[in-house]
Amino acid sequence: MFEKMRSLVKTDSRPKITIYIATSIDGYIARKDGSLDWLDQVGGFDEDYGFQQLIDSIDGVILGRNTYEIAASVPDWPYKGKRIVVLSNTLQTVREEAELYRGDLTHLVTQLHSDGIKHVWIDGGVTISQFLKLQLVDCMTLSVIPVILGDGMPLFNALGNEIPCHLISSQSYPSGLVQLNYEIKA
Ligand SMILES: NC(=O)c1ccc[n+]([C@@H]2O[C@H](COP(=O)([O-])OP(=O)(O)OC[C@H]3O[C@@H](n4cnc5c(N)ncnc54)[C@H](OP(=O)(O)O)[C@@H]3O)[C@@H](O)[C@H]2O)c1
Repeated sequence: MFEKMRSLVKTDSRPKITIYIATSIDGYIARKDGSLDWLDQVGGFDEDYGFQQLIDSIDGVILGRNTYEIAASVPDWPYKGKRIVVLSNTLQTVREEAELYRGDLTHLVTQLHSDGIKHVWIDGGVTISQFLKLQLVDCMTLSVIPVILGDGMPLFNALGNEIPCHLISSQSYPSGLVQLNYEIKA
């Protein structure tokens, strides 16, 4: 799947940038209090929904501060061996294998490109909306969890512009999760 998507992407001045995120049917990525317990219903099916394949395909991760704080609080840090950039205007430090960045995201991806980074996973609702607004996203994998949360933290903030997406593939799983793989058209 990622091989097929990679062949469709032309990124010669920046890394390929991918969204891989789980959402409720009504477009929330976390409850209002940030909790993610509703994701548990699709666990335990002996299925990782392409996560390891994603991890194997990336060499960089850009995380919003809220997502970083959740990831940093669990014992199994999922980004081992990757270049990790945490976006924040408020944090003063991050764990030693990560780096802090604030400011212009176009400049950041240009810098990552010149450092040899080829494929970046971006994570966090506020973060992905900023990248979409800047037209810096190439691929998007949405895993739709079979629940309507009714309220929560939104997957997308208001972008102010329309973004055509091309469906590359879709897959449903016994857990009820439906995964949609898109190429984002610039
Ligand atoms: N369902 C899923 O698959 C999934 C995936 C990831 C996250 N989540 C959940 O979603 C929630 C977090 O999402 P979120 O929408 O709050 O957003 P987020 O993107 O994780 O974090 C937003 C924060 O990132 C910082 N930031 C973003 N762009 C920046 C920039 N250009 N320069 C400097 N700082 C920047 C700001 O931090 P400061 O306030 O420090 O300036 C901003 O408040 C968490 O509860 C997390 O667990 C769910």
